[in-house]
Amino acid sequence: MDGNRIPRTECSELNGPHTLVRPRLTLVVPTRNERESVPLLLRALEPAFDGLPAEILFVDDSDDDTPETAARHARDCRMPVRMLHREKDAREGGLAGAVLAGARHARGEWALVMDADLQHPPEAAAALARTALGHGVDIVVGTRYAGSGSTGDGLDGPIRRLVSRGSTLVTKAVFPHRLAGVSDPMSGLFAFRTAAIDLDRLSPLGFKVLLELLVRHPGARVAEVSYRFAPRAAGTSKASLREGLRFLRHLARLRRPGATGRTESGRHAGPGRPGMSATARFLAFGLIGVSGIAVNTAALWFFHTVAGVQHLVSATLATQVSSLWNFALLETLVYHGGRGGGRRAVLMRGLAFLALNNLLLLGRLPFLEWLLHTGMGLLTANVVSLVALFVARFLFSDLVIYRG
Ligand code: GDD
Ligand code: MN
Repeated sequence: MDGNRIPRTECSELNGPHTLVRPRLTLVVPTRNERESVPLLLRALEPAFDGLPAEILFVDDSDDDTPETAARHARDCRMPVRMLHREKDAREGGLAGAVLAGARHARGEWALVMDADLQHPPEAAAALARTALGHGVDIVVGTRYAGSGSTGDGLDGPIRRLVSRGSTLVTKAVFPHRLAGVSDPMSGLFAFRTAAIDLDRLSPLGFKVLLELLVRHPGARVAEVSYRFAPRAAGTSKASLREGLRFLRHLARLRRPGATGRTESGRHAGPGRPGMSATARFLAFGLIGVSGIAVNTAALWFFHTVAGVQHLVSATLATQVSSLWNFALLETLVYHGGRGGGRRAVLMRGLAFLALNNLLLLGRLPFLEWLLHTGMGLLTANVVSLVALFVARFLFSDLVIYRG
């Protein structure tokens, strides 16, 4: 590598000197492999922020040459540009960690967070900045779900739109009071007055920094500015299914008392019980459970109806299939990276998982048989017995294993 590489987790000036001595607002732009977007963003920010006392701070977790590209293009930019590059072993908290690190290094009294890929139009960010600097508020939320805001062409496909809308509704249902005046708590475009926010109180997970900010600062004064979510300018999204599951875990954690000292309802949770109503934990567990039930029942249908195998034998075979399915999902999505171990460790965990499921099957088969005696069809009875087992398992692990 060449000699002027950006140093480890250190903030470096990419241009200057500047006439703007003391910026009032720091644009915190998290970047991960955004070599194509960064030049476009720099070019678009300058006219949009003309006359505003703002600086740009990239917080970079890239493996490509984003830092070098940013440094090159910053020379032509009149706004002060700085970069905080985090080496591979210093990238705690992913996107959320990057945003917090940026807020800590902000020179302005305001930190305005925006994506690098131009999904947050620079004009919208500038409007947000004007609201922040001109009003007596602590947090300004860029919203796609109020006023003239919209998800526009930014969320490609009905599925992503549904997921975005659905998760926003679930989140608002989980925090009805805290998020009362906020229409887009999942927005990635927002600003906060650093003095009004206790950064040490935040330990966000994944992508949803704003949500945590709002939940942990119930007294903050919030304003909203609407914007139209634009398509990505270049490169690819870093969102993933794993990010989605991380979000569910984050929701669950935020519901615990201690998040703000009280539970959402203001009541104290029972002794030794997490303050959360179990909604979010149930959701995470449920997503995987439901898919397992579907796989199990499809396999049962195949073994019994298609291959003509006796029904209890079919049910036993189906359980092997769905156990492997669930195990693969848990390993790759939920515990990915967190459990570690070599191939042998994975194999041992898999065998233990299979053994446990077969033990439970011993209890389920008589129940299945009894349901069949009441005249229920095989596939329906299978689903009913699996749902019953699923609820029992959840209650057991929630009340006994993960209590407190
Ligand atoms: N430093 C750093 N580290 N930056 C990251 C990381 C990371 O681990 N992961 C993503 N980023 C940067 C990207 O480079 C981009 O600038 C920005 O964060 C958003 O990432 P995208 O991959 O473009 O995410 P998205 O478009 O799917 O999600 C956006 O919209 C969501 C709402 O629909 C984000 O703004 C989310 O925060 C937002 O909830
Ligand atoms: Mn994006």
